[in-house]
Amino acid sequence: MTVPYLREASSADLPALVDLENAAFAGDRLSRRDWRHLLTSPSALVIVSDDDAGLTGCSVVLTNRRTAVARLYSLAVAPRARRRGIAQALLQQAMASSAGTGAHLLRLETRSDNLAAQALFSRLGFQPFRRVANYYEDGTEAIRFQRLVDRDCLRQSALQ
Ligand SMILES: CC(C)(COP(=O)(O)OP(=O)(O)OC[C@H]1O[C@@H](n2cnc3c(N)ncnc32)[C@H](O)[C@@H]1OP(=O)(O)O)[C@@H](O)C(=O)NCCC(=O)NCCS
Repeated sequence: MTVPYLREASSADLPALVDLENAAFAGDRLSRRDWRHLLTSPSALVIVSDDDAGLTGCSVVLTNRRTAVARLYSLAVAPRARRRGIAQALLQQAMASSAGTGAHLLRLETRSDNLAAQALFSRLGFQPFRRVANYYEDGTEAIRFQRLVDRDCLRQSALQ
């Protein structure tokens, strides 16, 4: 499996990020306005992967220096590019970037019916710690996961 090329997103990626969001999620989508805000927010790190045809994936980490808990706010891979290890690479980078900002814990949530995401998170050492009823637009429950992040994660950084 080839290692995907990862880089920090810029405002030039805005249209492609909106397209990726629409292709990857059926509901609870981030809007263009949300993306514009994330791309300029000092507490948001937006990482993307590319190939010759455009964006293949994206992750968003929100950091909070006061709590040392980072949050994976979004993770999506284009349908055409799935099962190539892109989400795994983005998640490892999210762990590295979180550790790099001084966070000790990375948290995220996913739909209870999203078995693909749950398999991915478990594989990378995330553990479920809470269920939140009625979390998503359609009433689906969320499962919250967390993982300690440390210097070992930081060494895995693949940012170009
Ligand atoms: C979930 C998602 C991010 C996975 O992206 P991906 O790039 O295809 O995942 P990877 O190739 O890195 O998969 C790594 C591992 O995760 C697990 N996994 C990924 N997709 C899976 C699936 N559809 N079914 C079961 N396990 C899956 C497997 O263990 C996989 O390893 P393997 O391919 O060697 O079996 C992608 O399907 C997606 O964008 N879905 C829609 C948006 C979404 O659900 N985002 C996460 C919300 S929190």
